[in-house]
Amino acid sequence: MAHKIWLVVFLTTYTALVTSAQISLDWWQTTVFYQVYPRSFKDSDGDGVGDLNGITSKLDHLVDAGIGSVWLSPIYKSPMADFGYDIANFTDVDPIFGNLDDFDKLQSRAKELGLKLILDLVPNHTSNESIWFINSVKKIDPYTDYYVWIDPKYDENGNRVPPTNWLSAFGGSAWEWREERQQYYLHQFVVQQPDLNYENPRVVEEMKNAIRFWLDKGVDGFRVDAVPYLFEDQELRDEPLSGDSSALPTEANYLNHIYTQNLPGTYDMVQQWREVVDQKTAETGESKILMLETYAPLKKVMEYYGTQERPGGQFPFNFVMIEDLNINSTAYDFNTTIHEWMDNMPSWGWPNWVIGNHDQKRVGTRFGPGKIDIMNVISLLLPGSGITYNGDEIGMVDEIISYEDTVDPAGVNAGPDRYQLFSRDPCRTPFQWDNTTSAGFSTSTKTWLPVNPNYLTLNLEAEVEAVTSHYKVYQKAVAVRNFPTIQRGSLKVVPLSEQVLAFSRELEENPPFVVVVNLGDNKENVNLAVDDFENIPNDLVVYLSSVNSKKQQGSAVDKSDLDLDPEEILILTTSRGYICVVHSLLYCCAFKLFM
Ligand code: GLC
Ligand code: MG
Ligand code: CA
Repeated sequence: MAHKIWLVVFLTTYTALVTSAQISLDWWQTTVFYQVYPRSFKDSDGDGVGDLNGITSKLDHLVDAGIGSVWLSPIYKSPMADFGYDIANFTDVDPIFGNLDDFDKLQSRAKELGLKLILDLVPNHTSNESIWFINSVKKIDPYTDYYVWIDPKYDENGNRVPPTNWLSAFGGSAWEWREERQQYYLHQFVVQQPDLNYENPRVVEEMKNAIRFWLDKGVDGFRVDAVPYLFEDQELRDEPLSGDSSALPTEANYLNHIYTQNLPGTYDMVQQWREVVDQKTAETGESKILMLETYAPLKKVMEYYGTQERPGGQFPFNFVMIEDLNINSTAYDFNTTIHEWMDNMPSWGWPNWVIGNHDQKRVGTRFGPGKIDIMNVISLLLPGSGITYNGDEIGMVDEIISYEDTVDPAGVNAGPDRYQLFSRDPCRTPFQWDNTTSAGFSTSTKTWLPVNPNYLTLNLEAEVEAVTSHYKVYQKAVAVRNFPTIQRGSLKVVPLSEQVLAFSRELEENPPFVVVVNLGDNKENVNLAVDDFENIPNDLVVYLSSVNSKKQQGSAVDKSDLDLDPEEILILTTSRGYICVVHSLLYCCAFKLFM
């Protein structure tokens, strides 16, 4: 009984704080999206490659972490020339991953756990083993013009040459000759990924049908792959040189992609897809979403939000922390980079922060293992949707992989001297679950990419058991996102010195939060009593500190005299905020028990 009274008192304060937020925000705004790279997450059948049943068996981990939605990199039928991004059939599952029944099981388990499910949509190209392409090579209608087929040009000596100087993102000409058709086809990625022809209305309809197929199955939306590449210049003009002196003439960065990326039709196509998903939203009453992969100059990225009347994606991914920051970035750099996104986004747009994915060096490698907590916490506490690449929550780092063991075409194509600049294998090694065989990823000792030998100590199980760990920091940072202040509060970013960054989140009567980060290698003493933080009370306590911090959770700090250790991050709040936040998990359990 006493418990019940205590609970009611606590619940009244707490619910008032928490529920007000849910009124105006949609699930995709408050959630953390967790990217699962299916080949590397969990292998259920011992063949050394991850699969759908493996993912299903590990969905509890996502719930434990506080994550609300999962994005699966491609699971479709594929010869795996680009590990699933070369799709042979958009509406079937590859046998290496399982089958459609396994997919249904995965989806119903996800729903049971309250997890939203996002699939990867790869609209720019198919596999060369797609029946569409096979028929297109033979000019069998209606597939004849499903791809970008162009007649050759001839040089002064009468030799056949590709129609333009365009380069593949993975190196070499973007054109491949086919004897059968006596024409070149375009592939902006590997040779086995022919670009679809978006000038053809049938292609447009095929992709919409693929979207509808999965929406009808109940998925909650899509991460859309390689969006900028959809359309190409119809006049087939050569691209100008970029002037990037680090790029070889065969490497994509050698050219400035004004005729092969972000053409006007691309924006319209995204808006058309949005209409398709919005239809499902209207039908089901639950928002279906599009998040867009658009590596592009910032101004062009922002255009992918579309307009308020005719929106594009819910958001284009925000890659500024990947593109503009690194291990040496100062607090001023972080400030500029955060503002870059916030100030350029349309006023009605919703932000998001990406710190890693299957195409980039891991965050723990780009910023160094000492900054894992820093990057996780910053990305989760800034305004907007959170996005986590599997393994970053436990602080996995890149593995060094020899050229002989390299399987990623981006690495293989670059050759033994330059593969490390391009290979994405190092960030794709198997998830480290525990210290058993193959890190608990597979019963086989032979996995498709080698397991990082650091798994003996760096693994989820060890981090769950430890008193403090990257995972525990991550979990607590995710939990604090339930607070209205983090969901809807204002943002003020203040570089307090070259190496110390602070930002505040404030919302009316709700407890404020202040994140303070020492990015440097030296201790530093800072004063948080600055104009921008004038409304932050003096009564501040530590809600959360990084693994390397000596400060205890709940301990008071002096706002005007705060000592920070190297690479320490603190989340501070008021004592009232602290009571709410540390009890929030307990509250959730209690709610389930008593209500
Ligand atoms: C995107 C994917 C990448 C893939 C490429 C081609 O950039 O993230 O992994 O190789 O598109 O589909
Ligand atoms: Mg398997
Ligand atoms: Ca294209």
